[in-house]
Amino acid sequence: MPTTATIIDGKAVAAQIREEIAQRVTALKRERSVPPGLAVILVGEDPASQVYVRSKERQAQEAGFKSLAYRRPDDISEEQLITLIEGLNEDPTIDGILVQLPLPAHIDEGVVINAISPEKDVDGFHPINVGRMITGAPSLLPCTPFGCIQLLKRTLGDLSGLDAVVVGRSNIVGKPMAALLLRENCTVTMAHSRTRNLADVCRRADILVAAVGKPGFVQGDWIKPGATVIDVGINRVATADGGSRLVGDVDFEAAKAVAGAITPVPGGVGPMTIAMLLRNTLESYCRRNRLECELG
Ligand code: GUN
Repeated sequence: MPTTATIIDGKAVAAQIREEIAQRVTALKRERSVPPGLAVILVGEDPASQVYVRSKERQAQEAGFKSLAYRRPDDISEEQLITLIEGLNEDPTIDGILVQLPLPAHIDEGVVINAISPEKDVDGFHPINVGRMITGAPSLLPCTPFGCIQLLKRTLGDLSGLDAVVVGRSNIVGKPMAALLLRENCTVTMAHSRTRNLADVCRRADILVAAVGKPGFVQGDWIKPGATVIDVGINRVATADGGSRLVGDVDFEAAKAVAGAITPVPGGVGPMTIAMLLRNTLESYCRRNRLECELG
């Protein structure tokens, strides 16, 4: 009988984390008049970004946060966007600021990220937070890789000494994912579009993280038997009936027959990203208000 992988239920883990956060916020509200505040900025009308921002707005509300979404047209100038961010930096009721990416081509993402106060940078994208993360100092950690680490630790326990391969080197996922795996004492390989013998490199992994944005890119026979596979991809593909569905970067059906554990798409990494965003916002609130706030 062929074994099949344990399916890592990110949806359930994320719901549990959100519930814990909501309970903390309820307790905090008994003593303090102002709840944690999250501001999300969306520029333009990219359909996927609209969906993500609506979810962030709603889940922040459900956790008891003050939740604000600023929707701006895609012809907003860089200066106008920075003025909005500077106002939120100064607003004492706002603990977290997130600018949904990507931004239109006429706006420099680096300039915008640099304008966010590092203490309110709940995406963990500001160079100061990236530097803190790399050196191991306390910092706000990028939500998607942070969520992947939570799933890995819940699945495997201690990650020390494991061989981890990250496929993809984006600033949002691949690079910070490698840094966080290193912090967990993994032996980390970063693979990307120029990597030679990619299948062989992947086959060495105890932990394989796919973050390339290509549907079904990672094949079943690239996976070491028993490995833990984290699929960060969210790709919309057409179906035969004229509709569409979401698939990851891993050929799920083939991978499931080889891996020890695997995240599905949807319902794996995706829900964890917003749970980590809420966690970061609560952490920022606690730090800014000098509150003890041990978050698991
Ligand atoms: N676009 C895709 N993922 C993310 C994310 O984690 N944060 C932001 N700000 N934009 C994104």
